[in-house]
Amino acid sequence: MPGFEFFGAEERKQVNDVLETGILMRYGFDGPRKGIWKSVELEQEICKTFGSKYAQLTSSGTAALTTAMAALGIGAGDEVIMPCFTFVASFEAVLSVGAVPVLVDVDDTLTLNPESVKKAITSNTKCIMPVHMCGSMADLDALKQICTDHHLILLEDACQSIGATYKGKALGTIGDAGTFSFDFVKTITCAEGGVVLTNNEDTYIKCDGYTDHGHDHRGADRGADLHPFVGYNFRISELHAAVGLAQIKKLDTFLAIQKKNHSQLKSILAQVPEISFRSVPDEKGDSCTFLSWFLPTEAITKAVVNALKEQNILAGNFYWYANNWHYIKQWSHLKESTTLNKLNEAQKTAVLKLQTQDFSVSDAVMGRCISTAITLLWTEEQIAEKGAKIVAVIKKVLAQETVGA
Ligand SMILES: Cc1ncc(COP(=O)(O)O)c(C=O)c1O
Repeated sequence: MPGFEFFGAEERKQVNDVLETGILMRYGFDGPRKGIWKSVELEQEICKTFGSKYAQLTSSGTAALTTAMAALGIGAGDEVIMPCFTFVASFEAVLSVGAVPVLVDVDDTLTLNPESVKKAITSNTKCIMPVHMCGSMADLDALKQICTDHHLILLEDACQSIGATYKGKALGTIGDAGTFSFDFVKTITCAEGGVVLTNNEDTYIKCDGYTDHGHDHRGADRGADLHPFVGYNFRISELHAAVGLAQIKKLDTFLAIQKKNHSQLKSILAQVPEISFRSVPDEKGDSCTFLSWFLPTEAITKAVVNALKEQNILAGNFYWYANNWHYIKQWSHLKESTTLNKLNEAQKTAVLKLQTQDFSVSDAVMGRCISTAITLLWTEEQIAEKGAKIVAVIKKVLAQETVGA
């Protein structure tokens, strides 16, 4: 996820525009800012680039998820169905609005299995939140249908999939709302930042107020704004928005390079018949930030990971199954309800139940999966060399397995 790889004069120019006025805040100070409104400009650019009617910038992707949930009316006791493979931020946001995270299995799309979603629906379910992990998408047609059938909200966590599309539409613009993260390791970065995308004006107005202490932004100045509801401070700064403005103009270049590098690496790994690849509901829409691949068994995958580590070539190859941030297996803080302040009873009961929930279907997927991060700066020679090294390791492990069997 490579925005930081192409950081240079364009970002510096945008940031300098802000530094020259000294107005680092996105609201107010109309005179001294001398017409420099980087956050507004970035929101307009986001709408144009991704085909969204509205965009509300936030201080992070996590804040964007929290904001979207509040604006969509998701709160105490409401159940949000989400995948057990995601970044911790997804359940943090659910908990932060008082709602209940209901974790269900993923399939070989590496995101929500629609059949598992259906089984998890109760009278308290309010929202389905697919997380479009590692640059690619959930089966959105199936999930949309479930939402329609059960009158549920569809909130897309597209924080990791900026620029990916499904049937021609940008991920994040298909549900009732969607979110991107612009943190330092995302496809485009602001250093820290996020955005809520929505096509619904009412949802947008709520996001606008919620991220700025409930201000309605209609007064002659900030002191004259009304507060139609309680909000918080999830504002982005002008400095961060300025970086994002330079980055969004490079998005097409990033995506083209990602796709080219992904395709070259995939064709090398595809030479090993025992390797299979992640299912992508719309191949053309994959943003190709990662190439995710499967080996036949968990034991073989672990042996390959260990061999890559021994040879010092594991970097950039992620075995999420054993990663503290991304898979339910490692989230003991969630499963033991280790929070600094009290959760509500419904939340506490639900998270403690995760200790005994059967995730064997997801284990069977994630235990065999390795995701290789696609770097923009790779040369063709470097990809060929990298691919050859990985293939050699896999073939050696497979040969040992055959001898050992
Ligand atoms: C799937 C997913 N959701 C949400 C987030 C949160 O984004 P941020 O780091 O900007 O808070 C991330 C960040 O890695 C993510 O990967």
